[in-house]
Amino acid sequence: MPKEEINNLALRRTLYFPSGEIYASAPSGFWEFGPIGEAIRRKIVAVWRKELVEREGMIEIGGSQILPEDVFKASGHLESFNDPIVQCKKCHSLFRADKLIAEKVDGIVPESLATTELDKLIDEHKVQCPKCRGKNFEEVRKFNMMMGLQIGATGDQPAYLRPETCQSIFCDFRRLYKSSRQELPLGIAQAGKSFRNEIAPRNTLLRQREFGQMEIEVFFNPDKINDVAHFEDVKDYKLNLMLLKTGKLGKVSCSDAAKKKIVSGKLVAYYLARVQQLYEKLGIPLEKMRFRELDNDERAFYAKETWDFEVETDLGWVELMACNHRTDYDLKGHAKQSKQDLSVTEEGKKFVPHIFELSAGIDRAFYVILDLSFRKEKRGKEERIYLKLPAAIAPYLSGVFPLVKKDGLLEKAEEIAQTLREHQFDVFFDEKGSIGKRYARVDEIGVPYAITVDYDTMKDSTVTLRERDSMDQKRIAIEKLPETLWLLSLEKKTFKEL
Ligand code: GLY
Repeated sequence: MPKEEINNLALRRTLYFPSGEIYASAPSGFWEFGPIGEAIRRKIVAVWRKELVEREGMIEIGGSQILPEDVFKASGHLESFNDPIVQCKKCHSLFRADKLIAEKVDGIVPESLATTELDKLIDEHKVQCPKCRGKNFEEVRKFNMMMGLQIGATGDQPAYLRPETCQSIFCDFRRLYKSSRQELPLGIAQAGKSFRNEIAPRNTLLRQREFGQMEIEVFFNPDKINDVAHFEDVKDYKLNLMLLKTGKLGKVSCSDAAKKKIVSGKLVAYYLARVQQLYEKLGIPLEKMRFRELDNDERAFYAKETWDFEVETDLGWVELMACNHRTDYDLKGHAKQSKQDLSVTEEGKKFVPHIFELSAGIDRAFYVILDLSFRKEKRGKEERIYLKLPAAIAPYLSGVFPLVKKDGLLEKAEEIAQTLREHQFDVFFDEKGSIGKRYARVDEIGVPYAITVDYDTMKDSTVTLRERDSMDQKRIAIEKLPETLWLLSLEKKTFKEL
């Protein structure tokens, strides 16, 4: 769906909106999430937690957003977390050099190219300034994207807002490994905010300066990359892989991916399968997703193998998760900088664990899900907008509406809403306006079911249950509502089967 439609909906229903918007000085790339947007966002994280973290027996932490400079010396971010930037000589606007050239040549330009190479490409392709059409640029230079801070009154303790949530997982590894009393492979997860000083934040939630990440770091013994406990569960499951070698998208079973060494081992294939299944649960159709294998010059500096999980949207393919084989890069770096031993000993052998990382953007997933779930339909003269969200990530499972406020209907509806809340269901209550408008309001934010209390309710203790997508309605006994909603929300029954 065009981004204008999505942004209109977002602003109209306060899903997200610019931070500090009452001030003209507010920088771009920062967004607020209103109650409905935040509810959807929270539920995306909850599905990730249930489907990956908990199902796979991983552990989850909450680390600090600010970490000392030493962490980023060790991680390589101080040295290598750079974007190539270039400034127009005429209007002084700044641009990402790789993106500027990519727009001109209509292809991918690796950001890791040397600055002199980028200078050459700018000349060769006669790139112009998109703002003033100027033809002359300063030399390309590297710009570190971390946001720095000084801690304490004297400001002599340099620190940074984390550019990725995973660094505290690496720093905490030794303690967490010991206290978990688990053997490798051990998955450690964290969801939270990260910060990057993007030159050109754009496409609302897709490129922000403060953004949500949900990351998993799987620590494993490199000698046992093919020793995966539940591999049988996924061996025939087909991954959508776009291989570097062919540039084509194909379906490859997990066992073939490992056997033919398309991925570096069964452990990688196993987690790619779990990732694909997770996004299916989040409502993304299989035919819209792919894992794209990244080339040497496209990968982050810490990765030896990367599969970007991408989804096709109106804005093209959008990366939702980077699946990085980070080897022992992180633990070795932190061990060296901190002078601590971060190796483990298992079965009499001492080694530094390797890491397979599943690094996902929360807000990106939110935006892409909005893009793919947005429906606009003509019904006679009327236009209908609804979000076809899976129940698990809808902001509310149901709306409860009294047809009118009088004759005890309001009180009855309040009583039903309260009972549902006591059964742990989230309920949206609305007693204002025509019933048609109330349905339209909940459809637009993706609430899958609406419950209407009418005059028959007062006689026979039944309500109307309406399904968002089909707009079909059924009469249901009030006492059956919790069980019915439970069956529907877990997809144990369809609305038609009720
Ligand atoms: N941890 C990987 C990333 O943030 O891209």
